[in-house]
Order: sequence, then structure tokens, then C-alpha cells
Amino acid sequence: MEKPIYLDYNATTPVSPEVVEEMLPYIHSHFGNPSSSYAFGRHNKEAIENARMQVANLIGSLPEEIIFTSGGTESNNHSIRGSAFANAQNGKHIVTSAVEHPAVTEVCRYLEKQGFEITSLPVDSFGRVNPADVEKALRPDTVLLTIMHANNETGTIQPIKEIGEIAKKHGVLFHSDAAQSVGKIKVDVNERGVDLLSIAGHKLYAPKGIGALYIRRGVTIENLIFGAGQESGQRPGTENVPFIVALGKACELAKENFEISNRQMFQMRQRLLEGLKEKIQSGIKLNADLNNCLPNTLSIAFEGVEAHTLASIVNEQVSFSTGSACHAGSAEVSPVLRAMNTDRKTAAGTVRFSTGKFTTTEEIDYAVEVISTAVNQLHNLI
Ligand SMILES: Cc1ncc(COP(=O)(O)O)c(C=O)c1O
Repeated sequence: MEKPIYLDYNATTPVSPEVVEEMLPYIHSHFGNPSSSYAFGRHNKEAIENARMQVANLIGSLPEEIIFTSGGTESNNHSIRGSAFANAQNGKHIVTSAVEHPAVTEVCRYLEKQGFEITSLPVDSFGRVNPADVEKALRPDTVLLTIMHANNETGTIQPIKEIGEIAKKHGVLFHSDAAQSVGKIKVDVNERGVDLLSIAGHKLYAPKGIGALYIRRGVTIENLIFGAGQESGQRPGTENVPFIVALGKACELAKENFEISNRQMFQMRQRLLEGLKEKIQSGIKLNADLNNCLPNTLSIAFEGVEAHTLASIVNEQVSFSTGSACHAGSAEVSPVLRAMNTDRKTAAGTVRFSTGKFTTTEEIDYAVEVISTAVNQLHNLI
């Protein structure tokens, strides 16, 4: 067993060996420019189209509804900024939630400076948006609704099916940041009623720096960048063929092995929770309703314990996050926990464990031992 044990799959995942194998030829030998009409180029163009189909198959879309991007951040920027500017003549109001990733909130802040009005919906104590609040917030000048599918810090899953129906009823474009959900739970764009959906490769065992954006057929948004005609002119620039191939393979694997990896993540998360509950007798609080949560995520507060102190004690043995990895190191209460009205003490004691398809029982048992020992020691110091 390699140490430290990695329990931070929501921050990023290792690249699956099958994915590495699939992409390597595109680094070693298949170097052609996909836009070239001779064999070197044609081969790579076909590889891109195959990957597009693999991504589409995972989320139930048409291949032509997928464009490749550099990751979740770009997909969010493109869809939110692009739909706002494309529809500004119809209104300048955008509805979002208080628990979005900075790759959404910062785009909204930027748009605010450009004259858009942003309504940020509140959430309950588990970080869930109430669909009734969505309905109330929509106005005749609302041009976009952007609500994430699952939260990176708590794992809380939003009722996006209901939200999608409301958006449709009001004729408002609906974007969902699915960076954390794709590959962990079933995502079907037709069932969910979304118009735009962001995917981040490195959360589902593809490399960092590759992602995809689903744009429903018939929806037109403005480009983020301008150039030649790649990605049907929507995302110009010579394609990152090895990483696109990698994302395609990762999506294929996610679909093929969905039941197995979903079960593995879930069972390991449950084993971790049960183990911690057994060995730490008191003062454990869950930040999510596990019936409505990603199968791999455990956001948990240890009463009377400073999460940063705990992390510094055990960091040679177990890797996990104290809040969102994107804000790691910050002593501030994360905006997500703040929006959930989490008190300061609970927020300070909050850690996020996230399991993955490679997590083993041996690793979990070791992590339980190490963490419970450290938490009990810290309790004894109080
Ligand atoms: C919910 C969510 N959205 C967006 C992103 C950003 O994705 P990327 O790192 O691919 O830019 C992340 C990554 O942490 C995320 O968790």
C-alpha cells in the first residue's frame, strides 16, 4: 500500500492506465494536424470524432453537441459568458446559486461589471437549492440559469431535473456545471433538461487540462476565443489530440464500468464513515444529506478540531481536503459552508474525503486508524 493514502478524488483523479495507453500513440507518433487533409491529419481527425462520440455516449447527447475545451473552468466561462452575450438583447438577468464553484461565480461577477444583474439563490443547511426559489427568481429579462449538478465540497446533488423543467417552462437557457458529477453518477442531458453542461476531464480519470462542453442543438452562444474553424468554429485552435483521445477513453470507461466504480466509491465512502463513527465516539457532523450526495464524497466536521491542524498531523499518511482544494490553505470559511449557514466552529472542523474507483478497503482501514487516532488525541487536548 502506497502512502500517503489518496482520499481527495474530488480535487483530481489519477489518469487510468487504459487512458494513458490510448493517448500515448498520439504523443509518440500520431502527430498530424487534424485539419490537414492528408493521411497524418485524417487519422487524427477521426480520433477526435471518435472521442466526441465517446463523450456524447456518456451523457446521452449527439456527438455534434460536444465541443472540447481545456477543462471545467473554460466550459463554464464559455457557456455562461457566451449565453449572456448572445442573448443580451433579450435581457441582462442571470440566476445562479450561492454554492457554485469560482469558475461560475467569478464569471458572474465579471458579467455584473458588464451590466448584467445576478441573482444568487440561497441553499438549505445541506447546500440544496429549492426549485420553488428558482421559479420565483426567474423574470422576463432572465437570459440564463446556471446551477451546478453536484457540489465539489459537500457532494450535494441539486434537483436539476426539476430546475430544468422550470427553466424550460420559462424559456430560459439552463447551464449546469457537471464537473463533479459526470463519471460518478448518471448524467443524461435529455433527462436533466439542460441546454449547456460542463465536463472536466481530470475529475474522471483523464488528464488535467481537457474538458468538454455540451451545447444543445439549436442553442447559439458566443465564442470565448476567436480563430480558425476547429470545433465547428466554436472553439478555435489546433486540437489537443492526445488529451481529447484520453477524455474520450475516460468517458467510455466511465460508461462501461459505471456500476462497478460507483459501487466501489460508495462502499469505500461508507466504510470510512462507519469506521470513523465507531472509533470517534462523539462530535461528528455531516455537512450533506447522504441520500442526496455523490457516492464518493464525505464532508464531515470533527467538533473541537481544527481541520488544518488535523491535516498537518496526518498529511504524511492520508491526503484529503479541508474545504475545496481550489481554496486550500485559506483560513476563511468557504463560501459554500457560509451559504449553508454552517457555524464557524463546524466550518473550521470540516474536512472533505473523496474516494475513487482505485480506493481499497485496506486504504480505508488505514485512513480510519490514522484519522481517528489523531482526532481522539486532539479531543483529549481540549
Ligand atoms: C464543480 C467544479 N467546477 C469546475 C471546476 C474547474 O474545473 P477545471 O479544474 O477542469 O478547470 C472544478 C474543479 O475543481 C469543480 O469542482
